[in-house]
Amino acid sequence: MNYRHAFHAGNYADVFKHVLLLQLLRALQRKEKGFLYLDTHAGSGTYDLLVASAPVPSRVDRRPEWPDGIGRLWQAMGLPPALEDYVGLVREFARHRGVAGEQPRFYPGSPWIAALVSRPQDRLMFWEQQPAEAAVLRDDFARRRRTAVECGDGYGALRAALPPAERRALVLIDPPLEDQGEFDAILAALREGMRRFPSGVYAVWHPVTERASGEAFRAALREAMRQPTVWAELAVTADPQVRMKGCGLLVINPPWGFAEQLPPVLTVLAERLAIDAGATSRWAWLVPEH
Ligand SMILES: C[S@@+](CC[C@H](N)C(=O)[O-])C[C@H]1O[C@@H](n2cnc3c(N)ncnc32)[C@H](O)[C@@H]1O
Repeated sequence: MNYRHAFHAGNYADVFKHVLLLQLLRALQRKEKGFLYLDTHAGSGTYDLLVASAPVPSRVDRRPEWPDGIGRLWQAMGLPPALEDYVGLVREFARHRGVAGEQPRFYPGSPWIAALVSRPQDRLMFWEQQPAEAAVLRDDFARRRRTAVECGDGYGALRAALPPAERRALVLIDPPLEDQGEFDAILAALREGMRRFPSGVYAVWHPVTERASGEAFRAALREAMRQPTVWAELAVTADPQVRMKGCGLLVINPPWGFAEQLPPVLTVLAERLAIDAGATSRWAWLVPEH
């Protein structure tokens, strides 16, 4: 596997995913009772955007991605509350590392987004397959209560961790999706999750490329799921030359109020993160609420 999230950290796809992840966490925290946050493909949790911008001799055409992601929002004014919340959290993360300047420097991955807002009654579990990335997580979270890091196959995490003792969980499935076969692995994992813990909230990120619009995946999911499922998508361009034009997030059992917040957030994300006039956003119930 060649995937290194550091190259992509803070790009538009991370912004989209982390804004919605934060909204999911906030929505679950409207209830006092704690929950398990399970991150099946956690990454290292911390990204230095200076490193992400460093030139790679073998890829002279590669440009850093964060300037068209978090870079567009860092100093932005007049954002809707969900985006203010997210930018505020990214700034808080940077301050923890002693840097908060005019440019973003350190960017939090999904484990830190969850950790920064988690309450004493919430529990965190991070799975990551690459030993070097998992080692960073272990170092950062070694002394944190109610937090576990596992180095291994995140799809197995659903079997290992569900159902949770708390009877409440948010599961983020955020794989690199470098090959199409991975959609089958996600479906199998979701089936396992549904069997073990049908009332959990499951969020699945996927890219939108010329070859894979995500439509076949959504159709398979619609077929397989009985639980209410909402889907949101952001496209930053319609240019066929751009490999990843956008991305989507599917949320099974979305918490109350989550779907209703999507339209203004998605509209502003499409405006602020657009590469060209082809940028759009949309959302829909894949399986409607009963
Ligand atoms: C898109 S990145 C995760 C980013 C992270 N969720 C975030 O939002 O900051 C995908 C990660 O999955 C890891 N990975 C790939 N296959 C895996 C597997 N089967 N189980 C667990 N982790 C895996 C990769 O090493 C990579 O760090």
